[in-house]
Amino acid sequence: MMQNEPIMHSFFSKERPSLYLLSIPCVFLLLTFFAVYRNDLRLQSLFSTCDNHVPSFLEPVSVKPDFRVLISVFTTAWTFERRHLLRHVYSKSLWPADNITDYVDLCFVMCNITDEEHITMVSLEIMVYNDIIVLNCTENVNYGKTYNFFSSLPDIFGRDRLYDYVVKTDDDTYWRLDKLLASLRDKPRNDVYYGLEIPCNGTDFNFWIPTPFMTGLGYVLSWDLVEWIAESEVPVNHTMGPEDMMLGWWLQMGEKGKNRYNNAPVMYDFRGDDQEPNCFRHDLTADTIAVHRLKENSRWATVLKYFNVTHGHIKASKFHYNP
Ligand SMILES: *[C@@H]1O[C@H](CO)[C@@H](O)[C@H](O)[C@H]1NC(C)=O
Ligand SMILES: *[C@@H]1O[C@H](CO)[C@@H](O)[C@H](O)[C@H]1NC(C)=O
Ligand SMILES: *[C@@H]1O[C@H](CO)[C@@H](O)[C@H](O)[C@H]1NC(C)=O
Ligand SMILES: *[C@@H]1O[C@H](CO)[C@@H](O)[C@H](O)[C@H]1NC(C)=O
Ligand SMILES: *[C@@H]1O[C@H](CO)[C@@H](O)[C@H](O)[C@H]1NC(C)=O
Ligand SMILES: *[C@@H]1O[C@H](CO)[C@@H](O)[C@H](O)[C@H]1NC(C)=O
Repeated sequence: MMQNEPIMHSFFSKERPSLYLLSIPCVFLLLTFFAVYRNDLRLQSLFSTCDNHVPSFLEPVSVKPDFRVLISVFTTAWTFERRHLLRHVYSKSLWPADNITDYVDLCFVMCNITDEEHITMVSLEIMVYNDIIVLNCTENVNYGKTYNFFSSLPDIFGRDRLYDYVVKTDDDTYWRLDKLLASLRDKPRNDVYYGLEIPCNGTDFNFWIPTPFMTGLGYVLSWDLVEWIAESEVPVNHTMGPEDMMLGWWLQMGEKGKNRYNNAPVMYDFRGDDQEPNCFRHDLTADTIAVHRLKENSRWATVLKYFNVTHGHIKASKFHYNP
């Protein structure tokens, strides 16, 4: 718990009792944890804010995963509905257990919560899902939230790394977790910078781009780069600016991210009816790893249907009227 306090302090200062309440079940879990996991994982993982699969700690796993991934979705306190949808689409019950349960944790990242109504609503989510990280920052996109997040991770999770990769992503991006894992499996575990690179196909789209970077729809960093961001003077001196471009620039200045993977065309933007396809935007394809710009629920429905996420999974039943 000590590890979390600095970050959680401002948020919980008015809500102290809920923090203590949350720690009660942890005591019981802790006992089980020592029995099953003594040598495998660190204590921090139980107390991490991203333990949304706490029940799985109660089940012994026969094979330790060869790598672990944290999917961190940048969100704001007030986007409850989108978090609800994302918890569903990334729910472990939707994926073959071997592939996802051991490998992936999901968390939502927001800055300081100031609105009383939001504090209560988000407290409910933390009590039920415990998958939220509240950072010490004022909500923003390009004024340092990304720096704040990565530089806080080593403190939140402890020095002994729990994750091999951290995915930073938007709440309008859909990741096919099985495809992502399959793609990461044979990659190095360090100095990895992975995403959809801009400029793509030689086109800079008339933006001034100091150095090629992975676009903010979602990118993957290996844990050593997360620690580098926390420790180096380079990122902390350059926190302001388009967050994805700045990250590419930090790595360039620090001569980091040598294991660089551009995943065009399997990471891309959803193509709207009136949009021409290009190197970062096209129609849905079966080999997709991530698709972005799912702003409306209608687009989510289109995408989930295309990837057969629900198709054929609901058995005919007298409980569900279906003409
Ligand atoms: C939050 O960040 C500010 C500015 O960086 C710092 O002065 C303050 O101590 C931090 N608060 C906590 C609780 O960590
Ligand atoms: C967080 O919110 C509290 C209450 O509104 C405010 O006093 C504090 O300055 C905020 N901190 C940041 C980093 O925005
Ligand atoms: C998922 O699990 C199946 C069965 O265990 C295995 O064949 C496949 O390689 C796994 N895929 C990934 C991405 O881990
Ligand atoms: C970062 O900023 C500090 C204070 O302005 C300066 O002393 C230091 O040289 C800078 N480091 C880098 C790597 O830019
Ligand atoms: C890449 O650029 C070439 C030449 O400019 C063009 O013919 C091709 O269609 C582009 N590919 C994509 C995927 O945009
Ligand atoms: C979805 O299921 C249909 C029918 O089984 C199949 O033809 C199609 O290839 C599947 N789509 C994907 C993206 O796997």
